[in-house]
Amino acid sequence: MARSISMEAAGLTLAFLILILTISAASSTNQIQILNAERRIDLSSHIVKVFLTLKVENVMTAPASEIVLAFPPAQADHLALVKAQAAIGKKKKKSYVHLDVNPTELPDAPNGTKYFSISLLNPLSSGETATLEVLYILTHSLKPFPAEISQSESQLVYFRDSALILSPYHVKQQTTFLKTPSTKVESFTRVEPTKFAGRELKYGPYEDRPPYSFSPVTVHLENNSPFAVVEELLREVEISHWGNIQITEHYKLVHAGARHKGVFSRVEYQSRPSFSGTSSFKHLLASLPPRVHSVYYRDDIGNISSSHLRSDYRKSELEIEPRYPLFGGWKATFVIGYGLPLEDFLFESPDGKRYLNFSFGCPLAETVVDKLTIKVVLPEGSKDPSAAVPFPVEQHLETKYSYLDVVGRTVLVLEKKNVVPEHITPFQVYYTFKPIFMLAEPLMLASKGLMMQLSSDGSGSHDPLPGQPSMLSLNSSACPCSPN
Ligand SMILES: *[C@@H]1O[C@H](CO)[C@@H](O)[C@H](O)[C@H]1NC(C)=O
Ligand SMILES: *[C@@H]1O[C@H](CO)[C@@H](O)[C@H](O)[C@H]1NC(C)=O
Ligand SMILES: *[C@@H]1O[C@H](CO)[C@@H](O)[C@H](O)[C@H]1NC(C)=O
Ligand SMILES: *[C@@H]1O[C@H](CO)[C@@H](O)[C@H](O)[C@H]1NC(C)=O
Repeated sequence: MARSISMEAAGLTLAFLILILTISAASSTNQIQILNAERRIDLSSHIVKVFLTLKVENVMTAPASEIVLAFPPAQADHLALVKAQAAIGKKKKKSYVHLDVNPTELPDAPNGTKYFSISLLNPLSSGETATLEVLYILTHSLKPFPAEISQSESQLVYFRDSALILSPYHVKQQTTFLKTPSTKVESFTRVEPTKFAGRELKYGPYEDRPPYSFSPVTVHLENNSPFAVVEELLREVEISHWGNIQITEHYKLVHAGARHKGVFSRVEYQSRPSFSGTSSFKHLLASLPPRVHSVYYRDDIGNISSSHLRSDYRKSELEIEPRYPLFGGWKATFVIGYGLPLEDFLFESPDGKRYLNFSFGCPLAETVVDKLTIKVVLPEGSKDPSAAVPFPVEQHLETKYSYLDVVGRTVLVLEKKNVVPEHITPFQVYYTFKPIFMLAEPLMLASKGLMMQLSSDGSGSHDPLPGQPSMLSLNSSACPCSPN
């Protein structure tokens, strides 16, 4: 008898526990309602940018400190970046503050939904509303169809998403706009109301959709923007206390659009440029810092002279032209190298450390980098390097030897996958310098004048400083030690 009572009690406790768990899980997503959502999807390049404006309301009594964004798993795999900001103030005095966004998990996520949590600056109290602006970027999300095209054909791609914004919250009203690169749209799924006019496809407004509403749509559209993907980019940043920073960038570039079919006709390409190879690209624009010097550009065959450098006090632009135009599926491997004045990038922090303040990302315009590696080669005798990057990156240390080095140099290696132009942002590498090497430094600096003289001796001021070690992995016969 006693036993059955305790069993009953245990059962009751369990039921109670389940009840409590259900309530607490439910409250986290029932707490918020989206009053209005507007999503603008920009399909004009191969990098898909999505601007989402959410007006949210706390409909419960407890304050809410986070807003959760949901992504279908297929989309989450292609997410390069998620950023959020909050609008404060009314119309004219409106300003924005950056909000932290972090991956998160919710219990029983349907269909493998992936989540990001936006941390609010001040918790939303009951009945209060807030307006959030979210930017997220998708790469490799436009699928060429047909997958192969001839030189004279335009490139068509599929874009797939949902007409309804995937959300763990109830959405009272929502509209989605897709901006297409041209007026040529072959087909699109209708989820009424749906309207296509000019270069804009509009889904909605839709009213009162429950959490996790989803309505797949496919848009088949023309997109001839250059699908420039760097499968691998290695940027080596070599700090020399001799007064120079030497940058060497190794690119493995591919045109990730529809594959080129048939033979390439240069005659047709050159005589009818507006009809022929519209999705191909022949120029690339690299954005380099101002005061860049000793710029060179070469591939496996050797130097390529067809590059133009424009510089002003704010930036330098290097226009490079590969040996042949790039069509879908074609690859180009090349190296860009340049020198920069040390004083523009190397500073001393209040605690006496030195630090490099340099730019992350890829200098080539509108480019996706599947895998980016930045190697910061510190001067001989540097210790305890640490990096400050505003987003997660993998890091480790290596040692590099070049013929002037006795002990080898510490190399801080940063790695990141799925890099887009929005990742071009300053990052810092802090390090300390061993006192014994400090002694040697004035000596090196003193001989800098001599080195300068030496370098202007030869074929002109375009030569890098002699003794500036070249790249790590290059075949020395292919490495011009005085490139231009
Ligand atoms: C989840 O999967 C089910 C069954 O496959 C489907 O009916 C539902 O629409 C999916 N929901 C979402 C949000 O993808
Ligand atoms: C590259 O060009 C520079 C200057 O024009 C020249 O000195 C060097 O030998 C060239 N290297 C190769 C591999 O052609
Ligand atoms: C790094 O440089 C950028 C400008 O390029 C500047 O805005 C930023 O304040 C610098 N950061 C540090 C820590 O010096
Ligand atoms: C360098 O390249 C040349 C020809 O391109 C080749 O004969 C030689 O073996 C290579 N050397 C190394 C160390 O890879």
